[in-house]
Amino acid sequence: MAGGEKVDYVFKVVLIGDSAVGKSQILARFARNEFSLDSKATIGVEFQTRTLVIDHKSVKAQIWDTAGQERYRAVTSAYYRGALGALLVYDITKRQSFDHIPRWLEELRGHADKNIVIMLVGNKSDLEDERAVSTEDAKEFAEKENLFFLETSAMQATNVENSFQTVLSEIF
Ligand code: GTP
Ligand code: MG
Repeated sequence: MAGGEKVDYVFKVVLIGDSAVGKSQILARFARNEFSLDSKATIGVEFQTRTLVIDHKSVKAQIWDTAGQERYRAVTSAYYRGALGALLVYDITKRQSFDHIPRWLEELRGHADKNIVIMLVGNKSDLEDERAVSTEDAKEFAEKENLFFLETSAMQATNVENSFQTVLSEIF
């Protein structure tokens, strides 16, 4: 940020979900408005920030991204520490990535603050022809578990902004 501009709040938000669901590209889209088809698997932990204005306050979103692959993952407790929001991501074309969501949710609820704001995100909505998870199934699960829910496409920049905005506004 340019000097002189003040940040009123810093909110940590974590991205979780299976490998290759598109967590890093969702972050690239949100933080830099970029997208890459040959994205490499994340190793360890990375984070990026973006400052937005919510209710006339300057909010710095610090978004953390780790590997979906177990062997490359960041230390769990450190990753979740202080997180106020989470995007729980699956790939609408990979049934398994949706079936694993309860496990991710369990880990999240076991490690994060009990008031954490959680958004279930069905990514790759541009691949409608390959859809393997219906919007209805996901919506039903989200309602049952008290999660926000949106389908996104990091590729087409659909609902990425909306997902983060919803979580950040709700934290606020
Ligand atoms: P790990 O770091 O291993 O946990 O994976 P990840 O969840 O970060 O996945 P990543 O963002 O690296 O994306 C995996 C692959 O999916 C890449 O080839 C991306 O280009 C592709 N991808 C991500 N988002 C989308 C999307 O919205 N639509 C399509 N069609 N492809 C996407
Ligand atoms: Mg990644």
